[in-house]
Amino acid sequence: MATDMDKPDLSGMWECPLTKWDSNGMNIVEAQKEAAKQASGTLEIRASAEDNALGAEYFRNNKDMIRKELLKSGSIWFRGFDLMKSVSGYRQMHEAIELQPCLDPLHSSGLRKFSSERDALYEEVNKPSLRGHYIGLHSESTTKRTAAYAAFVCFQKATEGGGRFLVADGAAILAEMDTALVQKLYDRQIRISVSNIDIPPSFPQFIQDGVKNLVDAAVAPKFDMDLEMMIGADGKEGRLQAVEIAESPINRHPVTGIPVWFNNAHNHARKLRDRRPCGVPEVGMTEVFYADTMETLTLEDCNEIKRASEKHITALAMEPGDVLLVDNYRALHGRDVFQGDRYHAVSWFTWDDNEEWRGEERRPVQKNGMNKVINGMMDWLPKDFESDQS
Ligand SMILES: [Fe+2]
Repeated sequence: MATDMDKPDLSGMWECPLTKWDSNGMNIVEAQKEAAKQASGTLEIRASAEDNALGAEYFRNNKDMIRKELLKSGSIWFRGFDLMKSVSGYRQMHEAIELQPCLDPLHSSGLRKFSSERDALYEEVNKPSLRGHYIGLHSESTTKRTAAYAAFVCFQKATEGGGRFLVADGAAILAEMDTALVQKLYDRQIRISVSNIDIPPSFPQFIQDGVKNLVDAAVAPKFDMDLEMMIGADGKEGRLQAVEIAESPINRHPVTGIPVWFNNAHNHARKLRDRRPCGVPEVGMTEVFYADTMETLTLEDCNEIKRASEKHITALAMEPGDVLLVDNYRALHGRDVFQGDRYHAVSWFTWDDNEEWRGEERRPVQKNGMNKVINGMMDWLPKDFESDQS
C-alpha cells in the first residue's frame, strides 16, 4: 500500500467538474431506440504473460484502444494484471492512459477518506460496519458535480466472501425500462433527499425552524450541492430533509450524445432500501421524490426501476490487481454485501481533452489541515453515510 515518494504529490488535484446536463427536448421513444442500439456490456481485458511483462508499458501502448473502448462500452474490467496490485502500480496504470485525477463530488463534506492522499486515491466502502449494506446502482454524481471517469481497484478481496462489484450500462437500462415510466419521470423530474434529521414533532415550530436554519447555514454549504431544507416532505412529522434541486432522470452523454439512464434512484429510493440489507443510520437515509408534487416514488415505480436496472447488472468478483475503469456518465456502479475484511479503493478523473468542461479550479491544498480534522472527527460515522456512494 506504500506510495512512491519519487512521484509528485497529487494532493492539489482538480476539483470535481460540474455536471454536464443535456436533457432538454428529448423524445422518449426515440431516446430508448437510440439507447438500445448502443447498449453494451462490460468489456473484459485479461492480461497475458507478455502483457504483464510489459508492466505500465502495456497501458501506454494501448492508451488509444482503451480510451476508445471505454467510450464505446462504458466500462472495462482489467483482469489478472500484476501492475495494479500496489498503489504505485495502480497510479502508473492511470497515468499511462493519461487520466487526470479529481476530487470526489462530495469531497468538501469531509466524509470521503483518502487511501493515499498524495496518489489521489480514495477508500471505497470497506468498513466492517457497512459490509452488510447493499449499495445500489448510482453514478458518482450529484445534481451539481459529476466525475467524468473512475478506476475502481481491488487490493484485497473480501476475506470471507461476497462484495462483488456491480456495474450496469445506463443505455441498456434506459432501453429496458417501461416507456410510460421514463416519460412520467422525465416530465415530472425527480428530486433526491440526501439526509434526514428527525426533530421530535413535539418541539415547538420555532425550534424546528431554528434547527432547519442552523443546518441550512452551517451544514449544507459543506456539501457543495444545491440543497433545500424541507420539513416533513416524506410525510414524517418533524423530519428535516436536505433535498437536491430537480433533475432529469435521463441525460445525453457529453461526448457521444447517447441517451442514458442517469440518476441514483436505484440506490437512493427508500422503498428499495427498506427491502434489502441496509446498515445506514437514519441520518444517512435517502429518498427520491417526483419533483413537481414532492410525493415519494410509488412502490410500483420503484419496482420497475429495480427490475430494469438489475436485469443489466454485471456482478464482478474482483481479484487483487483487478481494475474496473468506468465512464461515469454512461455506466452506473454499486457493491454487493460482503463478509470478512476487504480493501478496495478508487480514483476519480476529470475531463482531460475538454478543458472548458474541466474548469480551472484545483483543490486548495491549504484546506488540507481542516479536512483532515473533519475526517478524523467523522471517522466513527459510516464514511458514506450521506449518500453511500461507491
Ligand atoms: Fe460510488
